[in-house]
Amino acid sequence: MPSIIPTTLSTPRLILRPLLESDAAALFTIFSDPEVMRYWSTVPWASIDVAHELIANDIAAHQEGRYLRLGMQTQADNHLIGMCSLFAIDLQNLRADLGYGMGSTHWGNGYMHEALTTFVEHAFDAFKLRRLEADIDPRNAASAKTLERLGFIKEGHLRERWLVDGVVSDTDLYGLLRRDWLAR
Ligand SMILES: CC(C)(COP(=O)(O)OP(=O)(O)OC[C@H]1O[C@@H](n2cnc3c(N)ncnc32)[C@H](O)[C@@H]1OP(=O)(O)O)[C@@H](O)C(=O)NCCC(=O)NCCS
Repeated sequence: MPSIIPTTLSTPRLILRPLLESDAAALFTIFSDPEVMRYWSTVPWASIDVAHELIANDIAAHQEGRYLRLGMQTQADNHLIGMCSLFAIDLQNLRADLGYGMGSTHWGNGYMHEALTTFVEHAFDAFKLRRLEADIDPRNAASAKTLERLGFIKEGHLRERWLVDGVVSDTDLYGLLRRDWLAR
């Protein structure tokens, strides 16, 4: 895979940029919160080491072209409030998966919609993708709303797809086509 240039993108209220070692404490605060991690594919982070590891992994992953992850930083006060990522990038079939998470104190303000509008635009443009996918827990109503606001369509329901901390859960699979995005 060609390397990914970890771009910096801006939205009216946010800067989307690669994560830095100095983001570890803010990331740990966000992703150790059980409310944020309720429908995530892992348990809440138990140690800040997970944040350090994730940031170190990003540098290698961008170099190897495995995924793109950008932190969401507020322009007003430079707080890191979440992250969005493009992973399972399949350049043969021109598709990839979208992931995102944000600190619970920032929910309900439209930050994720703003971030993903720009991030999705970048994904389609920079990687020439034809299709984006997102795999969410069917009980995650906020995430379903986030996807539907962007124009994603629920395309399927996959049973017992995840096993996290002994709990089995299903998946709702969402898809967004580039041609639908361009025509929106
Ligand atoms: C999924 C998640 C990012 C959604 O967060 P969110 O705050 O609902 O999403 P947004 O930032 O786009 O905000 C939209 C909400 O802000 C409101 N809002 C306020 N000002 C707004 C503005 N200027 N523009 C848009 N929306 C605005 C909207 O009305 C909407 O509220 P509603 O859902 O009650 O209708 C969040 O719940 C989360 O991080 N969850 C934990 C991690 C997770 O589950 N990730 C997905 C795994 S697949």
